[in-house]
Amino acid sequence: MQKIVLDISKIFDFIPEKQIFEQAKDAEYANIVLENKSGKGSDFLGWLHLPSSISKAFIDDIQNTADDLRSQCEVVVIIGIGGSYLGAKAVIDALSGSFNHLRNKKPLIVYAGHQIGEDYLYELSEFLKGKSFGIINISKSGTTTEPALAFRILKTQLENSKGIKKARKRIVAITDNCRGALRKLAILEEYKTFTIPDNVGGRFSVLTPVGLLPIAVAGIDIRKLVAGAVEMEKATDSNIPFEENIAARYAAVRNELYKQGKKIEILANFNPKLHYVAEWWKQLFGESEGKENKGIFTASVDFTTDLHSMGQWIQEGERSIFETVLSVAKSHYTVKIPEDTEDLDGLNYLAGKRVDYVNKMAELGTQQAHVAGGVPNIRIEIPELNEFCIGQLLYFFQRACGISGYLLGVNPFDQPGVEAYKKNMFALLKKPNCS
Ligand code: PA5
Repeated sequence: MQKIVLDISKIFDFIPEKQIFEQAKDAEYANIVLENKSGKGSDFLGWLHLPSSISKAFIDDIQNTADDLRSQCEVVVIIGIGGSYLGAKAVIDALSGSFNHLRNKKPLIVYAGHQIGEDYLYELSEFLKGKSFGIINISKSGTTTEPALAFRILKTQLENSKGIKKARKRIVAITDNCRGALRKLAILEEYKTFTIPDNVGGRFSVLTPVGLLPIAVAGIDIRKLVAGAVEMEKATDSNIPFEENIAARYAAVRNELYKQGKKIEILANFNPKLHYVAEWWKQLFGESEGKENKGIFTASVDFTTDLHSMGQWIQEGERSIFETVLSVAKSHYTVKIPEDTEDLDGLNYLAGKRVDYVNKMAELGTQQAHVAGGVPNIRIEIPELNEFCIGQLLYFFQRACGISGYLLGVNPFDQPGVEAYKKNMFALLKKPNCS
């Protein structure tokens, strides 16, 4: 069975191994607190045993709805922001062909409601003209301004082009069980709906319909994704000892580094398909831990691209960072470097070698340089970019985030800070009943 591997050996140049293992008790205890639901924010632990509780009937319902949209639509617009957007985007990008969007692969997946760009919405609406499209509208609260705006505009366009009755058959709403404007609208207009459980917060919701429906519409096997998550749910359970529990170890190491003044964690990947996994990860840890004037700042880079830009800062800037590298062990395809008689580019020394071999040497060379330059390095090896491994990775990070938040002493499941901008924006927009 393919398994994610965590390598913390390059930390021991900075923190003695003994000191990490002294954290075992605290990390194991934090994991037990999660399990017992006795810690802060325990109303939001619905994600903890979500993978193993997903039934065949539930997956079938999602898959049938996805198949329906796939057969009816050239384009499916996924509307959502933050936790109602990033998980699906991360998995779809990680597991899709890089040029699918240019290849007439049906349906094309596009996104809306994840920002308020007027030009973006205009261009999207122009692009959708004359195309058969469907909408998956995702909002737990149903009142988030960005997706609500996008939905109103695109719903109107769909109704104008198809007629109200047909449009309703191409709209799926994913929202909370009873509260909120979207639930009311969905009932009134008889949309197909899925529920976001009350006890699962946005950033932990990728394995609910929030992530699973868009992922299935993209043609990705959600059964295998969930199977990977179930495997990691077992592997990181609170009865698994620290030495074998990669979520507890990752959580302990990053907290020890934080105590040593390493205030910024940079998630680096050596595979461009993982760019949005890092965006999802930044929200997961950043929104969970950045409170009470503490918490690691989560940042990300794509290597080797960013070695030619941010590489300078990482090598020689302020020593307040550590790096967590996502490394994919095996690529899907083989591309060998051809021999060239002239060898004017001087690359013949690599002739016959695979491109992935060069990438792996870049990764090793980067690790050596950064560790020598004072950047502690954690390495997470993903055997392959497939559903099973990505399912493992998602759950691994979620579990580690819960443990890590408790080690830090915060409530990892709330986000009081995100309300401040909304309050000001609503006052400026003169939203009724908002003071
Ligand atoms: O993690 C979170 O809670 C946020 O990122 C939300 O998911 C985001 O603000 C969207 O909220 P909603 O789904 O209610 O529209």
